[in-house]
Amino acid sequence: MFRPGGPTFLELLDQAMSETTEGYDKLAPKFDRTPFRTPDAMLVEMARKASEKPIFSALDLCCGTGAAMLHLRPYCATRIVGLDLSAGMLDVARKTLEGSGGTAPIDLVQGDALDLPPSFEGAFDLVTSTGAFGHIEVRDEHRFLVGIRRALKEGGRFVFVTAKPPGPFDAWFWLAHGFNAAMHVRNAVRSPKFVMYYLTFMWPGVKRRLEGAGFTVTARHGLFPAPYSRYVYVEATRRE
Ligand SMILES: C[S@@+](CC[C@H](N)C(=O)[O-])C[C@H]1O[C@@H](n2cnc3c(N)ncnc32)[C@H](O)[C@@H]1O
Repeated sequence: MFRPGGPTFLELLDQAMSETTEGYDKLAPKFDRTPFRTPDAMLVEMARKASEKPIFSALDLCCGTGAAMLHLRPYCATRIVGLDLSAGMLDVARKTLEGSGGTAPIDLVQGDALDLPPSFEGAFDLVTSTGAFGHIEVRDEHRFLVGIRRALKEGGRFVFVTAKPPGPFDAWFWLAHGFNAAMHVRNAVRSPKFVMYYLTFMWPGVKRRLEGAGFTVTARHGLFPAPYSRYVYVEATRRE
């Protein structure tokens, strides 16, 4: 939900009319008061479940204001890295993570999740990404997943949360398709693009994509408390 002090309708419109990075730079100071930030109740459970196996180093892709890093850091023994396109979002993350729980050193990197730095190769036990798959165009999904696989150590895991696609009797079905149609029109008539489309990386369709990129996939249903119980925890392990 939008909380007091969140962006106005005009500010959101301005974001949607901007290019993706610029849009998030504008939204950054108010982002944590929007429904676009992944709720803590989900991130707590995701971090707890992911930590059932040891985590030395973790990478959170499209980390935004550091929401997931806040909950993952206490479980990381060696380091935690957040990567995001937007310097504005990373500035907020830096402040949010100051004095957060855990002792693992924090590194915040401005960069593109589709083009990870060579120094990330084989560097992480865990890669996570939350609330950001809508920014990955369908034609880039394989490249995104292959980059994640490359960043993982042998046996490393890519962990995320998704949901089953809504049916036509669910209001979300129409809202999401309506939003996507509007974004397709916006991107057809205005450049540079704002890449944001709902209903991507959904379960179980994403399983086949992950397998095709070299992962073994498991899913856990019923992990998240109401009102998030429809969400699915997915763990994709790097296959050798
Ligand atoms: C909706 S926010 C989600 C932030 C956070 N992960 C969360 O769950 O609250 C999406 C974030 O993805 C970032 N982003 C979008 N495309 C990206 C890309 N190709 N590489 C890195 N970051 C990207 C945006 O800058 C933004 O901070």
